[in-house]
Amino acid sequence: MMKNLFDLTVNYGCCGGCCGGGESDGGCCGGACSTAAANPKKIVVTGLKDAADDQIKKMEVGGKKLILVKHDGKFFALDGTCTHKGGALGKGLVLDGKIVCPLHGAEFDLASGTVAKGPAEKPLKTYKIDQRGDELTIHLEE
Ligand code: FES
Repeated sequence: MMKNLFDLTVNYGCCGGCCGGGESDGGCCGGACSTAAANPKKIVVTGLKDAADDQIKKMEVGGKKLILVKHDGKFFALDGTCTHKGGALGKGLVLDGKIVCPLHGAEFDLASGTVAKGPAEKPLKTYKIDQRGDELTIHLEE
């Protein structure tokens, strides 16, 4: 099942629930279970060539808000909700390798999710990314 989110294309990975193998590209077939779309274990994002450095892409996957950020030519995937009081990090800004919350200015390291500046105290969850050319896979479960 393909879904357009902003200018990127997101492909939910197969969970093996109904077809057991996914489509030829490994995506959800959109069949009877639709589990992958509701609770995906991974998502594949394409259309990366148009992403500019320090740009933030908001995504909502299985009811969870995520952000995808390109910085210094590398992509980072993190939770999109600030651990302080729930600020929408998709509306934040990228500064020196950190995402800055638009509500009270907490800063989180893009690579590790650790708090670089309060008032937040808890780190952001980060997600492993595999990139191949113009396509990347975000692993939502480890
Ligand atoms: S909600 Fe993000 S710093 Fe307060």
